[in-house]
Amino acid sequence: MKIDIFTLFPEWFEWFGEQRHVSNVLATGSRIECVNFRDHTTLSGGQVDDTPFGGGAGMVLRVDVMDGALRAHYGVDPVDLRNRRRVIALSPGGRMLDEELVQELAGERELTLLCGRYEGFDERILEHLVTDVVSIGRYVLSGGELAAMVLCDAVMRKLPGALGDERSAHEESFSAALEGNPEYPHYTRPAEYRGWPVPEVLLSGHHERIEQWRLERSRERARQTQMPPPGD
Ligand code: 6GU
Repeated sequence: MKIDIFTLFPEWFEWFGEQRHVSNVLATGSRIECVNFRDHTTLSGGQVDDTPFGGGAGMVLRVDVMDGALRAHYGVDPVDLRNRRRVIALSPGGRMLDEELVQELAGERELTLLCGRYEGFDERILEHLVTDVVSIGRYVLSGGELAAMVLCDAVMRKLPGALGDERSAHEESFSAALEGNPEYPHYTRPAEYRGWPVPEVLLSGHHERIEQWRLERSRERARQTQMPPPGD
């Protein structure tokens, strides 16, 4: 997979690329490339944002700057680029990132991520230059970079070679194997610590009972966290 990230802080992603499961995937031929869209602005002083029409606080990322940066990088009209690849703006008002969307994105060969700063994107960027607007939760971050890293982390660990043990991905939280529910609790040695025992069944060596117990705990956690079943 090839992921291009448009950001004013490309150096943030250097650390990210060094993390084990990310570097594992990069070693198999995947790539993350950062584009500093400030390098592509034709405005004086490297300007990329402006005050909002109608007044109000903060600054807004300019549509002409983002259009120019995408055009310079890909050599095509960004409006047409959308037919060739997913172009995703990270913005708190977007579609919530969940396991279903992560799976969907993990199936793409190429992704483009746009990281906003300030008050956000000029709406025409979202309307005309992207295929998706994605949020990682109902709270506001100072920019899209951390959200882009969250998205990349979740997507890249789905790719072959990311995890040391491919089984880890099969039965993890929200997987089909767990009916889309969160993961069951895990325990390791010691079997008892400060009077806190490990559930009996896990020490029984009885694989069917263990499977059943794990499935029940997983369902129970879904109820406790009041997660809507997938598809709701
Ligand atoms: Cl994608 N961007 C920003 N700036 N804040 C967020 C977010 C994204 N998702 C949740 N909060």
